[in-house]
Amino acid sequence: MHNRPRSATKHTLVQKRSFKPGNMLAPVPAVLVSCGGSQGFKPNLITIAWTGSICSDPPMLSVSVRPERYSYGIIQTTQEFVVNVPSLDQAKITDWCGMKSGRNVDKFAETGLTPGPALKVKSPIVMECPINIECKIKQSLNLGSHTLFLAEVVAVQVSSSLLDAKGKLRLEKAGLLAFAVGQYFALGRSLGRFGFSIKKSKKNVGR
Ligand SMILES: Cc1cc2nc3c(=O)[nH]c(=O)nc-3n(C[C@H](O)[C@H](O)[C@H](O)COP(=O)(O)O)c2cc1C
Repeated sequence: MHNRPRSATKHTLVQKRSFKPGNMLAPVPAVLVSCGGSQGFKPNLITIAWTGSICSDPPMLSVSVRPERYSYGIIQTTQEFVVNVPSLDQAKITDWCGMKSGRNVDKFAETGLTPGPALKVKSPIVMECPINIECKIKQSLNLGSHTLFLAEVVAVQVSSSLLDAKGKLRLEKAGLLAFAVGQYFALGRSLGRFGFSIKKSKKNVGR
């Protein structure tokens, strides 16, 4: 194998320190989860960092929510929500929605974000967010501080401005946000597509 990827950092140069066990997985997304809009609940927004894709078929994702959040009762009752993936433009709003409670403020009204129609759930999508993932809860698990909601993705909407002439999704245009151990970051340049490490470069083709 002449084509093995090699790390630029040699392990002999790396020293390690023990760190307090905690949520150090990084980066993760910080998303705006919209909920409510049915069963007497006004639409609300909650910022969530403990979220992730958990199954391809059926497509599923999870969110972990503390029971003391106002959104918790809404999500628990309606059994649905929308994960809205914010762009860098919405970084400040994303942080703000994680500082204020829907018990005291109307976060859509205060932020000026536009609630739009979802395709398969009653909670609104956030029109300004480039990706909107509509979810219906399948299971919930009380883990301790947080309840983990395992949900099926029942519809997805993306902003048309992210599609190229051939209808291909160009997420690099979205300017996505990442969250790493308490800090927000801007996602940088694309380094390659899935599988790029084993793809033959053009100059190697035919050899
Ligand atoms: C970056 C960020 C990530 C957060 N992640 C979570 C999370 O994963 N789960 C959670 O329960 N709260 C999380 N929070 C806190 C809630 O967003 C916050 O308590 C919010 O005010 C709850 O709103 P609500 O009372 O309207 O539901 C996060 C806050 C921030 C700023």
